[in-house]
Amino acid sequence: MDPVKLLIDRATADDADRLTELAAVTFPLACPASSRPEDIQHHIATELSSARFLEHLADPGKTLLCLREKDRLDAYSMLIAGDPIDAGVRSSLSTFPTIELSKFYVHPDHHGRGQASALMQATLETAAQAGARAVWLGTNDENHRAVRFYEKHGFTKVGVKTFRLGSGVENDFILELVLPTPPA
Ligand SMILES: CC(C)(COP(=O)(O)OP(=O)(O)OC[C@H]1O[C@@H](n2cnc3c(N)ncnc32)[C@H](O)[C@@H]1OP(=O)(O)O)[C@@H](O)C(=O)NCCC(=O)NCCS
Repeated sequence: MDPVKLLIDRATADDADRLTELAAVTFPLACPASSRPEDIQHHIATELSSARFLEHLADPGKTLLCLREKDRLDAYSMLIAGDPIDAGVRSSLSTFPTIELSKFYVHPDHHGRGQASALMQATLETAAQAGARAVWLGTNDENHRAVRFYEKHGFTKVGVKTFRLGSGVENDFILELVLPTPPA
């Protein structure tokens, strides 16, 4: 990886179509083998459409970061401000205010090459700047690569939750990272 050519910045409405293309490639990689292909495709068509990304981008509570190389979008993350409404998630977490890392996806051509770590560092800095003391996320319990990646970056498993994908109910780990306290 040549860090000089990489840029991490906030996504804008101009990125909506490229986010949709990247999401269509990367979302299936996060799903367990038991997921039905039609449920995955339905989720992509409804939840990862250009229109949905435009809604996210217009929401002041959501921050989307993009990692780019020249005009190519290689990875993105999305933070959602505010403590979780779900009581089960809330009771699993130790530290508030928290922020949800709702999406974190790297194009498979760039797995294992450092892009994910660069995006994670920028995402955690953004979370801290937003005033969060911790970051939480849900990831499928069979997504061993993602779990290892998150643990490598200091997240720990603190609970479980379910995630509905079409007619199926998938099991997620809840992971939490307590951010370092900034010097006084
Ligand atoms: C999850 C993701 C962002 C991580 O980025 P990455 O570049 O692959 O991450 P890294 O290579 O830095 O770290 C992955 C770690 O998992 C390890 N790993 C790979 N396959 C594994 C497996 N099957 N089981 C356990 N660990 C595995 C790697 O060896 C590496 O650990 P190491 O650095 O100690 O060797 C990226 O793989 C991705 O976008 N995946 C598809 C989408 C996804 O699942 N997103 C998360 C949704 S919550």
